[in-house]
Amino acid sequence: MRDKLDRLAGAREASELGGGAARIAQQHAKGKLSARERLDVLLDDGSFVELDRFVTSRTLGEGESPIYGDGVVTGHGRVEGRLVYVFSQDFTVFGGSLSEAHAAKICKIMDLALRNGAPVIGLNDSGGARIQEGVVSLGGYADIFLKNTLASGVIPQISAILGPCAGGAVYSPAITDFIYMVKGTSYMFVTGPNVVKTVTHEDVTMEQLGGADTHAGTSGVAHFACDSELACLQHIRELFRYVPSNNVEDPPRGAGRDPSDRREASLLDVVPDNPNKPYDMREVITRIVDDGHFYEVQPDYAANILVGFAHLGGHSVGIVANQPAVLAGVLDINASLKAARFVRFCDCF
Ligand code: HXC
Repeated sequence: MRDKLDRLAGAREASELGGGAARIAQQHAKGKLSARERLDVLLDDGSFVELDRFVTSRTLGEGESPIYGDGVVTGHGRVEGRLVYVFSQDFTVFGGSLSEAHAAKICKIMDLALRNGAPVIGLNDSGGARIQEGVVSLGGYADIFLKNTLASGVIPQISAILGPCAGGAVYSPAITDFIYMVKGTSYMFVTGPNVVKTVTHEDVTMEQLGGADTHAGTSGVAHFACDSELACLQHIRELFRYVPSNNVEDPPRGAGRDPSDRREASLLDVVPDNPNKPYDMREVITRIVDDGHFYEVQPDYAANILVGFAHLGGHSVGIVANQPAVLAGVLDINASLKAARFVRFCDCF
């Protein structure tokens, strides 16, 4: 019996290391956290329960030994005391790429999340389909995409992009509700600059092709571009002050003490008498909402419209507002898409 327990302890220790200490050190040198460290920051202290820790790939090359977890840490935990299901891809194992077993682990927590009416948070750091596994890896993505669509509008799906993500590791997050990126270390692209150069002869940098500023400001795929991984994970926690766990639960009440009958005399001076003079609609919103706190969504994209969450009298609300300070607040295609996407989320939840 002792033998078996020792073996179990050894396997548990090995599973903590993913692709090994040297690769974790490389991850740190790039300013990135490991898959497990990210979960520690994201989740309430001590709340994480891991599933499928000892799963390994079914496809091993000559002389390769199995790596416990197969490049993804999955399980459930709590954010602000509320149940969430999580997966955190481990770049130290084959670049976080998705194998058949890796996909099955993600699908399992997505199924559990749907069954229990709890949000899914994906921490993505992956080079996409695991090349060594060929078509079964692509099939794994098909399973995940299907579950993304079935969960859409039923439970919130939140994605953080925390490394160079390519292929399927981008297509799935791109169809989730809120996408967070980190400036300087996270990228989303169908394929990298080298392939672009080979196919189209164009020179493009990682940053231009799929960096946080590109997606938060130009393509509109990402909702938030954060300054660091820590800031990104904290920002995700903050979202939980506003969104319910599923489409039949009420959103959480705000914890602020702002009286709902508060008079705000300064509003009289914010909007100019002259209708040709622009003003910043954020000044209006922050004066009205509880404690002046506006959780703005997609702040860097289509800035001629503002969308985001706040509390009013403790109730969670979604706000859509024209922004006269940018393009005189006109509606164009990007602004319309941004607002429509946000309204659709509020409508579902
Ligand atoms: C297997 C992979 C991998 C992958 C990276 N690695 N991506 N292994 N399958 N998809 C491995 C590398 O071989 C390397 O291993 C280690 O992870 C770290 O990768 P590096 O290239 O050294 O890191 P970096 O320079 O930071 O570049 C990261 C990267 C690049 C930009 C993600 O690795 C890359 O371009 N990877 C391939 C991307 C890709 O084409 N993916 C397939 C997408 S197709 P060693 O042991 O050498 O250190 C797809 C289809 C979905 O996803 C369709 C669904 C229907």
